[in-house]
Amino acid sequence: MAFDVEAVRKEFPILSRQIDGSPLVYLDSGNTSQKPRAVIDAMTTFLENSYAPINRSSYRLAGEATEAYEGARRAVARLINAPQADEVIFTKNATEAINLITRAWGGAHLHEGDVVVLTQMEHHANIVPWQMLRDERGIEIRWVPLTPDGQLDLTGLDDLLDGAKVFSFTAMSNVLGTITPVTRLCEAAHDAGALAVVDACQYVPHNVTDVQAWGADLVAFSSHKMCGPSGIGMLWGRMELLDAMPPFLGGGNMIDTVTFEGYTTAPVPAKYEAGTPPIVEAVGLRAAVEFLEELGMADVRRHEIELTRYALDTLRGRFGDDIMIYGPDDLDVRGGVLSFAFRDLHPHDVSQILDERNVCVRAGHHCAKPLMQVLGVQSTTRASLYLYNDTDDVDALADALAGATDIFGL
Ligand SMILES: Cc1ncc(COP(=O)(O)O)c(C=O)c1O
Repeated sequence: MAFDVEAVRKEFPILSRQIDGSPLVYLDSGNTSQKPRAVIDAMTTFLENSYAPINRSSYRLAGEATEAYEGARRAVARLINAPQADEVIFTKNATEAINLITRAWGGAHLHEGDVVVLTQMEHHANIVPWQMLRDERGIEIRWVPLTPDGQLDLTGLDDLLDGAKVFSFTAMSNVLGTITPVTRLCEAAHDAGALAVVDACQYVPHNVTDVQAWGADLVAFSSHKMCGPSGIGMLWGRMELLDAMPPFLGGGNMIDTVTFEGYTTAPVPAKYEAGTPPIVEAVGLRAAVEFLEELGMADVRRHEIELTRYALDTLRGRFGDDIMIYGPDDLDVRGGVLSFAFRDLHPHDVSQILDERNVCVRAGHHCAKPLMQVLGVQSTTRASLYLYNDTDDVDALADALAGATDIFGL
C-alpha cells in the first residue's frame, strides 16, 4: 500500500492546530519531531495505570513497570537490528550517549598523542566531547573535509585514519542532509585499527537502520527526533565493548554490590544506567518505535525522497538564483533537510517572517559552527521534513518565502 501521508497526519494531534485561523506548518523535525496519538496515549495510560519504579521493588506493579521499560529496549533493538536488546543503553539524549563514549571508552583507552578522526559536518554533540578529552589528555583531532556539494571528501581518508584510535562520524548531516557511506566508513575505521562510532541521530528516524550491516561499534541516537518523547536517548554498542568499558556515571542501579571499601558494577545495560531512568519516556519511545514499524521505515524513506525532490524542484523553480540550497542534489545520498540562503536576507529575519504564516523553520548555526565556517556563512535557514509533511507544507513554505520577498520589497 502506498504511503498515505494524509492518514499519517491525522495521527498527530498538533497538526490540526490552527494559529490565528491558519494551519500549523511544522518544518523543524530535524530539531525535534512531533508526537503521534499512540505515543501520547501510551504515556498517559502508563501514568494513569502502571507507573512504578523499575528494578527495585518486588510488588507486581513494579514488575509491570520493569517489563514495560525492558520492552522499550527490545523495541529499539529490533528497529536498528541489534543482535541483543541488552546492547541498547538508555541515556538522556544522543549528546549524553556520545559523552558516555568519550568518558567511558575514551577515558580508558585514549592517551596523549592518540588520534581521533571526525568530519567537518559534525554536530557539536560529536565535536565538543572529543575536544574536552583533547584539552584534558592531549589527543589529536583530525577532520575529514567536504566536497563542494557537501559530501565527505574521502580521497585522503586512509592518511587521516593512519594511526587513529577512533573514527566518529554522522550518518546524516543535520545541516546538509547528506547521508554518509556508513558501512564503507566503518570498514575504513576497522582497517586502520580504529573504533567506528556513528552519530545516527538524524538517520534512524528516517531510514531503515541495521547496525550489524553497518559493522559499527557504537551508535548514538535520540528518541525525540523519531516521534518519541524528549528525555531519553540511546547508545547501542557491541557487547564485548560495553562489557569491557568502565561505567560512566556512578550511583544506584549501576552496581552489583557496594561496601565501605568500594563497589562492583551490574552487568550491561544497568552498568550504564545510573539512577532512576526515564521510565515514562521509555514507554513513549516503545510506542514510537511500534508506530514507525507499522508505517515501515522503507516507506518513510521513500516518502521523504519524493517530498525532498518536490521541495528542491519547487523552491528552485520559484526562486531560481535567489535561493541557495546547501548539500547534495542526489537523493540517494540526501535526506529531507533543506538548509538555504534566501537572497541576502538574514536567516533570523526569514524565519520570523515565515513564523507570521505559521511556518516553523529553524534559523541559526544548527549546532554545527565549524561546518558554518566551511560553508562561509554565520547561519542558514533550515526546513526539515518528516513523515507527516506533505506537498502542501512545501507550498506553504514557498508562499511564505515569496511573502518575505514582498515585505522586504525585493
Ligand atoms: C546530527 C546530530 N547529532 C546529535 C544531536 C544531538 O541530539 P540531542 O540534542 O538529542 O542530544 C543532534 C540534534 O540536533 C543532531 O542533529
